[in-house]
Amino acid sequence: MSKNAKRYLILTYGCQMNVHESEKLAGILEEMGYTPTDDRNQADVVVFNTCAIRETAEQKIIGNIGEFKSLKRKNPNLVLAVCGCMSQQSGYPEMLKKRYSFIDIIFGTHNLAEFGNFLKRRLETKKKFIEISETEDICLRDAMPKKRTSGVNAWINITYGCNNFCSYCIVPYVRGKEVSRPKEAIIREVKEAVGNGYKQITLLGQNVNSYGNDDRAKFGTFAELLKAVDEVDGKFRIRFMTSHPKDLTDDVINVIASSKKICHYLHLPIQSGSNRILALMNRKYTRESYLDLICKARKAINDIEFSSDIIVGFPTETEEDFLETLDIVKQVGYQQLFTYVYSKRKGTVAEKLDGQIPSSIKKERIKRLIEVEHQIATQISEKYIGKVLEVLLEDVHPKKEGWLVGSTDFNKTISVKADKSLIGSFVMVKVTNAKLTTLSGEIVEE
Ligand code: SAH
Ligand code: SF4
Ligand code: F3S
Repeated sequence: MSKNAKRYLILTYGCQMNVHESEKLAGILEEMGYTPTDDRNQADVVVFNTCAIRETAEQKIIGNIGEFKSLKRKNPNLVLAVCGCMSQQSGYPEMLKKRYSFIDIIFGTHNLAEFGNFLKRRLETKKKFIEISETEDICLRDAMPKKRTSGVNAWINITYGCNNFCSYCIVPYVRGKEVSRPKEAIIREVKEAVGNGYKQITLLGQNVNSYGNDDRAKFGTFAELLKAVDEVDGKFRIRFMTSHPKDLTDDVINVIASSKKICHYLHLPIQSGSNRILALMNRKYTRESYLDLICKARKAINDIEFSSDIIVGFPTETEEDFLETLDIVKQVGYQQLFTYVYSKRKGTVAEKLDGQIPSSIKKERIKRLIEVEHQIATQISEKYIGKVLEVLLEDVHPKKEGWLVGSTDFNKTISVKADKSLIGSFVMVKVTNAKLTTLSGEIVEE
């Protein structure tokens, strides 16, 4: 690397969608001759790829951008760009500009493919600007270069945006309406990723089960897409996220059951166990129909495990509603749970609901929920002690010298004593120890 090489740093917040979009921004920067750095003092370009899902996320990002004030003063040539879901929120670009006049470029979620041009414009004109569009041509986004940075993992978009308007959620407002990518483009990308040695392909969409709803004749269904991905040659795993329970079909369950490569794992967010709250959330399923789905999936797919997202303290949630959530968590037995305290989002339907829950009650409920889940997750982990599982070795262990971390088919993290040269390999591992979130084990001959 030349000493004068220009360097970039991308700070990514939020979900997998954003992680992958940062890989696309990195692709553009590398095509322009930039190389990555982790040191903000060395960077010529810094991009904040932001999230707006909860107030806590926003506050953290706004604070982190503020920390760049002194750096921009020291190095006026540093280009600071802010993009992602927070930038797309109504009123936010103006707020950011007013609060932090040192930001050079603010652009929205529909302007990702234009980032290279924005950077050139800033360098040539030295002018600061805001570019927020309401729609985009997805062909431009599909054509973006990518620099995959997630080890053995390749993220592949199958849809953009969301049409569901769950009453608490900002995503449909900042990501626009749902658009599917053509099956051929997706399969081409899967083949390319597998050809380049990626071992875990994750299909991404806010609701993968509604893939093709925008034009069924043109795109087909998610079940058909999954089947086509499963038929791609090579040894690799297929995962997908996120599945909305209202759209998970029997066909999808059957494709998973009969597939060779699709993991026996479903992330199926329930959000609440109370039918009254589910209706207020506009989720369009009931605890009974959700439990039916779990039952069907368990019957059809051997050794399947589940995970979920839950929001506590949605407006008007009573102790009884919350107890129904605890009850369904116990009934399903999730191997992992992502728990959130409800956060009021501007412009959403739930923002206007009476009966906001005091923060002390929300905190108390989330604590109880986490305690229940700890017991369940520990029990699930312990049932694997002594079993032999196929593990994909993904990376070096962050703490234990001579150990690697990998994942099981059902998406549990596992520590394995193994040499670095085995990263990217599938090995058979006998589980020797189980903790709440991780297993550990040793490689056995097949
Ligand atoms: N499309 C996905 C993920 C959306 S965001 C899905 O439908 O599951 C990830 C999670 O954040 C959601 O599942 C929900 O549990 C949580 N979330 C979304 N908006 C929230 C809010 N306003 N307050 C608290 N949690 C929220
Ligand atoms: Fe948000 Fe609901 Fe869409 Fe998920 S499905 S992104 S929770 S609106
Ligand atoms: Fe956040 Fe946007 Fe994802 S709001 S969770 S980064 S879609």
